[in-house]
Amino acid sequence: MKYETIHSLTLSKIGFGTWTIGGETSPNPTVDSASMTALRSALETGYTHFDAAEYYASGHAEELLGRAIRETKTKRENLFITSKVSPEHLDYDNVLKSCERSLHCLGTDYIDLYLIHWPRLGMKLEEAFRALNKLVRDGKVRHLGVSNFKLKLLKQAQAYSETPILTDQVPYSLPNHDYVENGVIEYCQQNDILVTAYSPVKFRSIRVNKVLGDVAKAHAATPFQIALAWLIAQPRVITIPMSLNPAHIRENFEAADIQLTAEEMSKLGNAWKKSE
Ligand SMILES: NC(=O)c1ccc[n+]([C@@H]2O[C@H](COP(=O)([O-])OP(=O)(O)OC[C@H]3O[C@@H](n4cnc5c(N)ncnc54)[C@H](OP(=O)(O)O)[C@@H]3O)[C@@H](O)[C@H]2O)c1
Repeated sequence: MKYETIHSLTLSKIGFGTWTIGGETSPNPTVDSASMTALRSALETGYTHFDAAEYYASGHAEELLGRAIRETKTKRENLFITSKVSPEHLDYDNVLKSCERSLHCLGTDYIDLYLIHWPRLGMKLEEAFRALNKLVRDGKVRHLGVSNFKLKLLKQAQAYSETPILTDQVPYSLPNHDYVENGVIEYCQQNDILVTAYSPVKFRSIRVNKVLGDVAKAHAATPFQIALAWLIAQPRVITIPMSLNPAHIRENFEAADIQLTAEEMSKLGNAWKKSE
């Protein structure tokens, strides 16, 4: 595994996403068994960073994650758990209530990293941060961050947060450079903010282009592994792929061992633009 050290915190470069664990926007018991298999497999493989949210299966993803941690007897202090407050809960009281609910669902007494899931027009960011700062002061949350925040909002969040904004979690992958183009990724890299790249391999429907195929072949790796290796080779970038398939879960974890050359990095960075 490769690691990123920031503000005295060391975090693995590849974590595990939990969107669709336990359902989508509401609990779906028919996927519980596959979800538990995936979570157990991730914990046994050695993933230590888990990305959850109150939105995922309305808290049921957090419940299953908590259950898997207890069942595998994984020590809480060896894990880094991210969760997120939904935009409809950004008033002072509801931020506190959402966090309590997430703590209860996870069965833990602190969340390592708590994010605003996405911004909402008219949201009271300063009020939300009053509650978020209190959660940190009370020891219920260790670090604060945001998700889907563009530059202007990210800078406002920095101004309102009493502790450094640890991350902006944004879509970033070989085919998706939106947050490169809007300047967020460069700003994060220059200001000690982690970029957590979400949906890093959600491009199954897009045909694998020749550059990606060639680099995968050269490393005896899959295109998905190369897509992850390309992300985590970048400074301050970590990622959180999700999979229900134990073979993919292991494959994604092992992608951290792949070393891409500078030439491969730059070819991959330009490949999608050229092939589309
Ligand atoms: N903050 C936000 O607004 C936001 C938005 C989206 C996502 N996220 C977070 O980011 C995490 C990851 O993003 P995501 O779930 O959207 O997309 P993703 O992890 O890029 O892609 C997940 C899909 O890719 C497949 N997959 C994963 N690894 C594979 C591999 N090695 N080979 C073949 N297929 C593979 C999975 O299918 P199989 O199950 O068949 O492997 C699944 O269908 C989420 O789970 C969530 O925690 C955050």
